[in-house]
Amino acid sequence: MADFPIEAVRTQFPALAMKDNGQQRIYLDNPAGTQVPQRVIDGVVKGMSDGASNLGGMFSASHTANQIWFDAHRAMADFLGASPKEVIIGPSMTNLTFNMSRTIGRTLSAGDEIIVTCMDHEGDISPWLHLAQDLDLVVKWLPFDKESWRIEPQDLQNLLNEKTRLLALNYASNLTGSINDVKTLISLAKAAGVLTYVDAVQFAPHGLIDVNSIGCDFLACSSYKFFGPHMGILWGRQDILEELDAYKCRCSSLELPEKFETGTPQTEMLSGLIETVGYLEWLGTELGGSGTRRELLQTAYDGFCDYENSLTRVLIDGLMNISGVTIHGITNSNRISERVPTVSFTHDRIAPETIASSMASVGVFVWHGHNYAYEPVRHLGIVEQTGVVRVGIAHYNTPSEIERTLENFARILN
Ligand SMILES: Cc1ncc(COP(=O)(O)O)c(C=O)c1O
Repeated sequence: MADFPIEAVRTQFPALAMKDNGQQRIYLDNPAGTQVPQRVIDGVVKGMSDGASNLGGMFSASHTANQIWFDAHRAMADFLGASPKEVIIGPSMTNLTFNMSRTIGRTLSAGDEIIVTCMDHEGDISPWLHLAQDLDLVVKWLPFDKESWRIEPQDLQNLLNEKTRLLALNYASNLTGSINDVKTLISLAKAAGVLTYVDAVQFAPHGLIDVNSIGCDFLACSSYKFFGPHMGILWGRQDILEELDAYKCRCSSLELPEKFETGTPQTEMLSGLIETVGYLEWLGTELGGSGTRRELLQTAYDGFCDYENSLTRVLIDGLMNISGVTIHGITNSNRISERVPTVSFTHDRIAPETIASSMASVGVFVWHGHNYAYEPVRHLGIVEQTGVVRVGIAHYNTPSEIERTLENFARILN
């Protein structure tokens, strides 16, 4: 932990220096959205000042906009281990998933089965439920195991049959923080000839994604969860994207990925997205890495993953020492690599909203409620309306922030 350049990291993020009523803010709301480095803010501004023209014109400002679009797709392709043609960028993961589910729906018929999970965020459930309702598909629910906190391969195997057409599942949970063994789960689904759609929104800020190694057909994430602008990114396997009949304007391009990017691109956000990957590359260099962009990203993630894990251990141990607290997720420190640093808990007397608001009054930002993890909360027998307190660490948090957070939890809860 001593080797992680936390001070250099923190100076990149202007929001981390902000205070409320003289108190330094502690951002532990990261699973709902991370803060951004100055270079991302500058990137957005540059996109608006230099590249606000539309794409495809004969003049220089339009060339700039084209270049931003191209560079953003290339950056996200390196980020995901993919080809730029396979990267579809849009307003949010949920929006892209609604769109793609409609397109995939063109290949499905009444009576086909789809599998969604009890572990996912609504962004990867509601689009499929609407589709099932419109097309008369059969929905099968894949549970997660309440002891391992993950989806067990046997539970998936039990649901697969010759009618199964699609599996939508998350890489990591936005409530419990557990990371699924997506590689194994995807290989089971692929062996049964099933299309696989992975929600990697909560994994992306904590682990480097490699779409080919996972073996899925689609994977979605959101850049505002990994230090970038509010955008969603959807990767799809090229041969599948080529075959799918996109919902698009008649006169818009049939090329990939344009045929799935309806409307005028958000050039300023794309410009910020390039800088998001630039920031991670910078961190890779700070951590002593070298080589290709992808190699630098790997060094960055390896560096902050260890650092985050050490903070998570302290957070979990501290919460477990407070009487009345139940953590909903993996607490065994030997299994720390099977979770992201998102820790949700309930207290036997005090409501999550009360806890979150007391913490806010001392400058500690945590979330309360179901956090759109509507199914996981139900699966755990927690009242949806009250939900949990969710504390989500990012690599820019510090040991002293975790200490101050635990002191305040102890004060409020004891
Ligand atoms: C696991 C997960 N999936 C999907 C989403 C939705 O992402 P977006 O806001 O980009 O639609 C979120 C947002 O919190 C999430 O945590």
